[in-house]
Amino acid sequence: MKATQQLRDEHEGVKIMLSVLGQVCQQLEATGNMNPEHLEGILEFLKIFVDKCHHGKEEELLFPALVAVGVPEDGPIAVMLHEHEMGRNLVKAMSTAFAGYMTGSISSSKAVLQNAHGYISLLRDHIEKENNVLFVMADSRLSEQRQDELFEGFEKIEEDRIGVGKHEEFHGLLKKLSGIYLD
Ligand SMILES: [Fe+2]
Ligand SMILES: [Fe+2]
Repeated sequence: MKATQQLRDEHEGVKIMLSVLGQVCQQLEATGNMNPEHLEGILEFLKIFVDKCHHGKEEELLFPALVAVGVPEDGPIAVMLHEHEMGRNLVKAMSTAFAGYMTGSISSSKAVLQNAHGYISLLRDHIEKENNVLFVMADSRLSEQRQDELFEGFEKIEEDRIGVGKHEEFHGLLKKLSGIYLD
């Protein structure tokens, strides 16, 4: 499998989780309540699977490989890095708001919704740009051998950051939550 294909596959998983988050928000908006365990699971998925693992693969391996074949650092790559940072801040703000929601604060509940909506639209748009622009660029400029090396590096990041068992756990969570919210 191409390294970029692994990232595209992960994007599909992330998009499903964004839809789940959208449904949790809709419930919160309509009833003032949600299942806190579910939001906790989603936040962990966003922090570990999306940020540490997926964004780690892009930031530490893919982007530098693109710079090495002449893609300017201050072009699309800078935009992607900035969006990762914005996403990180929104997840942090969502976590803080979620802690407030657990104490019964109504303003915190609104902040959960606001940050979640911001994150969902940011990430959806970000994924489209990577799939349709950056990864297309990568596929045309990186040799097969370079893609293979990246793929191996991705496996290593995954093992180091989350461990093999944890990866399966995240897939299980995705399956469980999409069964509850998206069927
Ligand atoms: Fe990204
Ligand atoms: Fe990505």
